[in-house]
Amino acid sequence: MILYYSGTGNSEYAAKRIGGEIGDEVLNLFEKLRDGDVSEMYSEKPWVIVTPVYAWRIPRILGEWLRKTKLTGNPAVYFVLTCGAGIGNAGKYLKTLCAEMGMEYRGCLEVVMPENYIALFSPPSDAEARRIIEQAEPALQQAAEAVGSGKPFLEKPVTFTDRVLSGAVNALFYPLFIHAKKFYVTDACVSCGKCAEVCPLQNIRMEGGKPVWGENCTHCMACICRCPKAAIEYGKHSRGLPRYTFPAMAENAADGEKAQNQGFQSQGFDQQELQNQEKGSIEGNEE
Ligand SMILES: Cc1cc2nc3c(=O)[nH]c(=O)nc-3n(C[C@H](O)[C@H](O)[C@H](O)COP(=O)(O)O)c2cc1C
Ligand code: SF4
Ligand code: SF4
Repeated sequence: MILYYSGTGNSEYAAKRIGGEIGDEVLNLFEKLRDGDVSEMYSEKPWVIVTPVYAWRIPRILGEWLRKTKLTGNPAVYFVLTCGAGIGNAGKYLKTLCAEMGMEYRGCLEVVMPENYIALFSPPSDAEARRIIEQAEPALQQAAEAVGSGKPFLEKPVTFTDRVLSGAVNALFYPLFIHAKKFYVTDACVSCGKCAEVCPLQNIRMEGGKPVWGENCTHCMACICRCPKAAIEYGKHSRGLPRYTFPAMAENAADGEKAQNQGFQSQGFDQQELQNQEKGSIEGNEE
């Protein structure tokens, strides 16, 4: 079974791409994380966890959920980590996590996707994002083939810098950078409530039709990037920057599809349709 967590759609796409290829069930963890549902799960097939990398390791909320949730049936766990540039030494910590869970670690694969971290960096333009997604295809294919054939992932060699990034820098990053203090809403807000609906930590409440942020934030960037009016800013940094969501998600929003409060699953992504849309848009951009 393929389980995914995703703030802005990259990991959702990766999960569905792999699931479509190997014909396995794909489940969005959004509701389980939001509701603290750690009830036991069962899969006959190997588990595949697809997630963004946050500070060169898996997001802490996902690590905590995995520690608390009993995954039964097949003991093998593969990790597919989407990232903007690199996953550092994330595998080391995932190996330990699997040992704690009593599961069999089958490797951790890096998939470079468009950068979504608008609080600190600049997300790519639409055309650039589509190019990056196209370039991720071999890694996704490799992931599907390895899982489908039961082989472990071939992991990249780890450098000294990778060790420092996933170790000391990760430890400092959370207390220093991961908070919601800099979010604010502008007059462009139309009080649709989507920002509150897409928060995996229920950290946003609506007051007088406007979002107010609490203290339980994991910096997933869903609220700021998925606001249909780009009415959320993060300090001065996000001003004028493009909001990133996986292309098909952005197209759905542009078509006026109603966002529902179940994460992206409710938007009914279809694997083949996603790829067709992506291909069509890439070809369109090249003309
Ligand atoms: C809080 C945060 C931390 C991030 N840390 C890293 C990182 O350490 N290395 C990296 O290459 N990308 C990093 N990124 C970029 C995301 O991992 C990347 O864009 C990912 O594909 C987003 O996945 P999603 O769309 O499924 O949420 C970070 C993004 C966020 C929001
Ligand atoms: S998603 Fe945007 S427009 Fe909708 S309530 Fe939140 S800030 Fe306002
Ligand atoms: S407040 Fe925004 S960035 Fe923080 S966890 Fe919720 S949706 Fe993600």
